[in-house]
Amino acid sequence: MAVSIKSEREIELMRKAGKMLAEVHARLGEAIRPGMSTLDIDKLGEKLIRSYGCVPNFLNYNGYPASICVSVNDEVVHGIPHAEHILQDGDIVSLDAGLIYKGYHSDAARTHAVGTISEEAKKLIEVTKQSFFEGIKMAKSGNHLYDISSAIDQYVSSFGYGIVKDLVGHGIGTKLHEEPQIPNFTQRRKGIKLRAGMTLAIEPMINMGDWEVDWLDDDWTVVTADGSLSAHYENTILITDDGEPEILTLL
Ligand code: CO
Repeated sequence: MAVSIKSEREIELMRKAGKMLAEVHARLGEAIRPGMSTLDIDKLGEKLIRSYGCVPNFLNYNGYPASICVSVNDEVVHGIPHAEHILQDGDIVSLDAGLIYKGYHSDAARTHAVGTISEEAKKLIEVTKQSFFEGIKMAKSGNHLYDISSAIDQYVSSFGYGIVKDLVGHGIGTKLHEEPQIPNFTQRRKGIKLRAGMTLAIEPMINMGDWEVDWLDDDWTVVTADGSLSAHYENTILITDDGEPEILTLL
């Protein structure tokens, strides 16, 4: 299956889906505080998504039981929200959210500080976010897909952090996960040629320690194998023909 090229009409719908998700993330970010449960975040996120007339795309996806993936500290991604899991001052929390608007998906993730966090943790969050921006400098029509992967890898590796390899970014559109897969680490090949109209979810997942991850017995929650902190940053972007990609999930 080839990578889909979106029409102007589809791009317009994806822009709207992206903006609403950016708004959801902004509101969730403002709401985060110690004492809140991870289920509180999920419920608020679902309410916000539905308030825009959209549908949470993660809910029931392959059996995932919530609308927002809430991953705390050494949890990398796909953390399942629980009423008993209370955020503590000094935690870091990654929120991954997505929605469907008129059949089109958006997908984005942010890592937030809960109260006051260590300088080390702040740096991990910043480097993870910046690695996305380093990657998308290469997200230009005519470049190759894995130029993005290498740019992320080079930037992150210069800090000595571990890049998660078991999970990758992806194309997105009428489905949450479309072709191509987008690794956050250097590949032997160049990958497909990028073309205007491709919509991609770029999502570095970065560990303070080693890159290896494990799965918890809930079959969803991915954790760092060495127990180190992990951060996640993701946006849905559009490849354009004028050089700069358009980031659809920022305000
Ligand atoms: Co994604």
